[in-house]
Amino acid sequence: SNSLEQTLISSIRNIPDYPKPGVMFRDITTLLGDARAFRRAIDELVHPYAGSKIDKIAGIEARGFILGGAMAHQMSAGFVPIRKKGKLPHETVRIAYSLEYGLDEMEMHKDAVAPGEKVILVDDLIATGGTAEAAVKLLRQIGADIVAACFVIDLPDLGGRKKLEALGVDVRTLVA
Ligand code: PRP
Ligand code: HPA
Repeated sequence: SNSLEQTLISSIRNIPDYPKPGVMFRDITTLLGDARAFRRAIDELVHPYAGSKIDKIAGIEARGFILGGAMAHQMSAGFVPIRKKGKLPHETVRIAYSLEYGLDEMEMHKDAVAPGEKVILVDDLIATGGTAEAAVKLLRQIGADIVAACFVIDLPDLGGRKKLEALGVDVRTLVA
């Protein structure tokens, strides 16, 4: 609803020129610190999947861990971390990706999702979609059935949603 969107928008802090000049950073720490906004965001993220059996929530480091942990608990699903390279102790699949401001590599444990398991991918924000696209490729590489990719914030001018939709992923976002 519009009032939900307003509640969420007013709980997100805007930081000009972070992490570099010209970038308007959407800071969700203020949303997370607001009990009502945090609960409403999680309720809205999980609502479409009530009654459907979701095996795993895959959260993208770092803020996708916070949202994904809360979603997994509420949905009685498992949680899978998708991490920056070098952080996971067991056998991984790894992929390089480009960001709005840089390059990196991410990893996931090879056995984190069994082939055919239903997975929802989550992160705080989609910008260019490079991060989420890489996460989708990792999940599909190990046989995950990606039911949807969810984000609190969409930056539509950066084209991320379209990039994921072109891969056949159902994308859900709460505010633009
Ligand atoms: C941010 C954000 C997404 C990604 C979105 O994370 O949380 O993961 O960028 O950008 P994209 O759609 O253009 O790929 P960041 O890379 O800053 O890492 P962090 O969560 O570790 O701070
Ligand atoms: N906030 C958080 N993560 C981001 C942003 C932002 O504004 N832009 C690209 N990644």
